[in-house]
Amino acid sequence: MASITLFLFSVISSFIFTSNGDLPGKWELLLQNAGISSMHTAVTRFGTVVLLDRTNIGPTKLKLPRGNCRYDPRDATLKLDCYAHSAIFDPASNQIRPLKILTDTWCSSGGFLPNGTLLQTGGDLDGNRKVRLFEPCSSGSYCDWMEIPDYDLAVGRWYSTNQILPEGHVIIVGGRGTHTVEFYPPNMGTITELPFLLEAEDAQMDNLYPYVHLLPNGRLFIFANTKSILYDYNLNRVVHVYPELQGGPRNYPSAGSSAMLALTPDNEHSTAEVVVCGGATYGAFIQQSTDAPANGSCGRIVATDLEATWQMEEMPFVRIMGDMVMLPTGHLLIINGAQAGSQGFNLASSPCLNPVLYRPEMDAGLRFMTLNPATVPRMYHSTAVLLPDGRILTAGSNPNYFYSFKGDFPTELRIEAFSPEYLSPDRQNLRPVISKTPSVIRYSEQFEVQIKVPLPVVEVVEINFASAPFATHSFSQGQRLVKLSVSSAHPSISGAISADSGGYTYTISCTAPPNGAVAPPSYYMMFAVNQGVPSVASWIHLIN
Ligand SMILES: *[C@@H]1O[C@H](CO)[C@@H](O)[C@H](O)[C@H]1NC(C)=O
Ligand SMILES: *[C@@H]1O[C@H](CO)[C@@H](O)[C@H](O)[C@H]1NC(C)=O
Repeated sequence: MASITLFLFSVISSFIFTSNGDLPGKWELLLQNAGISSMHTAVTRFGTVVLLDRTNIGPTKLKLPRGNCRYDPRDATLKLDCYAHSAIFDPASNQIRPLKILTDTWCSSGGFLPNGTLLQTGGDLDGNRKVRLFEPCSSGSYCDWMEIPDYDLAVGRWYSTNQILPEGHVIIVGGRGTHTVEFYPPNMGTITELPFLLEAEDAQMDNLYPYVHLLPNGRLFIFANTKSILYDYNLNRVVHVYPELQGGPRNYPSAGSSAMLALTPDNEHSTAEVVVCGGATYGAFIQQSTDAPANGSCGRIVATDLEATWQMEEMPFVRIMGDMVMLPTGHLLIINGAQAGSQGFNLASSPCLNPVLYRPEMDAGLRFMTLNPATVPRMYHSTAVLLPDGRILTAGSNPNYFYSFKGDFPTELRIEAFSPEYLSPDRQNLRPVISKTPSVIRYSEQFEVQIKVPLPVVEVVEINFASAPFATHSFSQGQRLVKLSVSSAHPSISGAISADSGGYTYTISCTAPPNGAVAPPSYYMMFAVNQGVPSVASWIHLIN
């Protein structure tokens, strides 16, 4: 009887949940032809979006400006290359401008430095040991990539992960065939062995693109394959080994994803939880089995509690190559990817079109919500990032070795945006506008944020700092959300009693994050969040 009921329920629910009109969230096409397929994507402090592919891929659909071709005798495909492999996209105008990279960035790593410059490291072939900087500029001005001359990484790094540290340095972890870490700038010592990365290796090399999260205790949570450690990078010491996560390999090429949940003022920001979700069946990569079902399990652990074990949950969909985007609210969006196969060229099938929302504060079993499906499959080499206006930009997907517009999964040049339900028209009268804020703050500083809201505020309005991560290969390097300690919104002098044209005005007293382990020095998107509805972010520079 129970199984018949369950069967009927699943028939009814699959009927209900596939009629897209009813599911939350809205999709829009921002640009039909970006010219390149972005396998690495990051949002700058000007709100523009850096798109980055690889150089040895041959012709793209975007040309470099005339007279600015790239000549590289070591390039495997085009020695004289007049095509762009990087671009800057402006969501304010939906315009794109080509950028010029010199060496191969395939499967490289990156993240923003404390001054807002994008640091980008490694790659393949001639790019294997290169370090590049992109100093972003306001739209309308000119800025481009530069390679740091006379400076190489200590070893070649392909499929490594970067994380900014409390002091503003960057750690670069692992890579194919290297079980080491190094730092940028390199003054903290050169290369350091990390045998854990070798222990986490298997015949498929499931230890690539390790999931690295800076915890509020200043140590790193590093997850590779099924294993994880707490790592003190100052002492080069593994402080704790967490229990293994069941459910198969999770990192590249087995294509799970991971995020650290929002750090909150509840325990003075001292508690951090990490989730790792999805992944491939072990063997799918080696056997090139495109229809091996993905795993839909999620593990969640309190990484700051050394007694903690993984709490398991099932997602509504099995998924590989999902991107986890931390929303301004602290909810986690899981978007893009496929339901079978593994990561790599032409190794996956059955796109997973439905994003899902993970609501960490709810009870297990109630946390996932299925959202409005996309129409564009985003498979291998696709990305998703949070924009300052609260939308999620999706770009890329290219399971082909070169650009190819044939077959089941052609090279994808469209850029889209997904608007979560918090942007729906019926919630606009809850949406705050940040009307006054400082643009630079120091650790633990008290400051005030003024907001306007169409309807009177009835609960605490959160002020949350979202980092701008470097998204690639279903992991967003450097992603974090820090909720500030705030007072309840109090009416400003102009008064909350009567609404002026812009709505009701309030002042919120905030305390900046306590230190660099909670929020490394950087530019953050500062959101005011009222009853789950975020404002457009103001960029704020957190400095020492
Ligand atoms: C930011 O830092 C990088 C690396 O230290 C440096 O090369 C760059 O010039 C700095 N940019 C600005 C705008 O200060
Ligand atoms: C995923 O892994 C979990 C944990 O080992 C297991 O219980 C579950 O059956 C797996 N799911 C699939 C679809 O393989």
